Amino acid sequence: METYHQIESMRARVRAWQVEGEVVGFVPTMGNLHEGHLRLVRHARRISDRVVASVFVNPTQFGPSEDFDGYPRTLEADSEQLRAEGTDALFAPPVSEVYPRGLDHVVTIHVPGLSDILCGAHRPGHFTGVATVVCKLFNMIAPDRAVFGRKDFQQYQIIRRMVADLNVPVEVIGSETARAPDGLALSSRNAYLEPAERQIAPALYRELHCIASSLKAGERDFLQLEAQGWEHLRRVGMQPDYVSIRRRDTLEEPVPDLPASQFVVLGAARLGRARLIDNIEVADL
Ligand code: PAF
Repeated sequence: METYHQIESMRARVRAWQVEGEVVGFVPTMGNLHEGHLRLVRHARRISDRVVASVFVNPTQFGPSEDFDGYPRTLEADSEQLRAEGTDALFAPPVSEVYPRGLDHVVTIHVPGLSDILCGAHRPGHFTGVATVVCKLFNMIAPDRAVFGRKDFQQYQIIRRMVADLNVPVEVIGSETARAPDGLALSSRNAYLEPAERQIAPALYRELHCIASSLKAGERDFLQLEAQGWEHLRRVGMQPDYVSIRRRDTLEEPVPDLPASQFVVLGAARLGRARLIDNIEVADL
């Protein structure tokens, strides 16, 4: 595996592969890799000839109260894991390479509507930072395809919208959520859970799954389903930020006469030091 820290050499490497007719898949990450990330790399591997992964802790997606400096930086271990998965190249630029004019005057990309609801309402500015850095990474690397986890469903839809609206020539692929045997979605944030909290954490998955099953069975009292889910999470000791049924493709409020396969159930809840998010697409049940 080759490691690049500069845009020009990374781009030249990718272009040389593409000139040879090879399809380049890309997996953007903020490092601190776990099995969930490695599955994205394997997905990219299956659908591409070459795989590039990036490790970049993006300062513009952290809010003022979020700990950018404390975010785990584990480049050596990440690099080893990526190498073991057969990744062809790692792009690990310094902040000054990605934001050469500093962080105060960055040209940003705001995906209206989608960025301001659900997690966006609780983390103002977060998705603008995500859309901006992903657009920049796409321009820096110019891959053919990019793979994102569907666990971050709102992020995935925001990236899809950004790419469609800005005519970015990258195919965005959503990869299935990797879960522990008890259903908990794999996430770097799970490391913040104390052992007792780890036992409680799968309740989020179970609650969203239960709502999705009710929708599939024909239930359409959205407010009642959301309120019940919220109350159940509160009772097991979580502090829900939201439990929400939405239209899968737009994340707009649902309407009762839509087929169940058009719904996604999303939730976010705080548990101890962790903020857990998850979702269930009814079409997958
Ligand atoms: O999902 C993440 O890890 C980040 O939001 C991403 C897409 C790598 C952008 O920094």
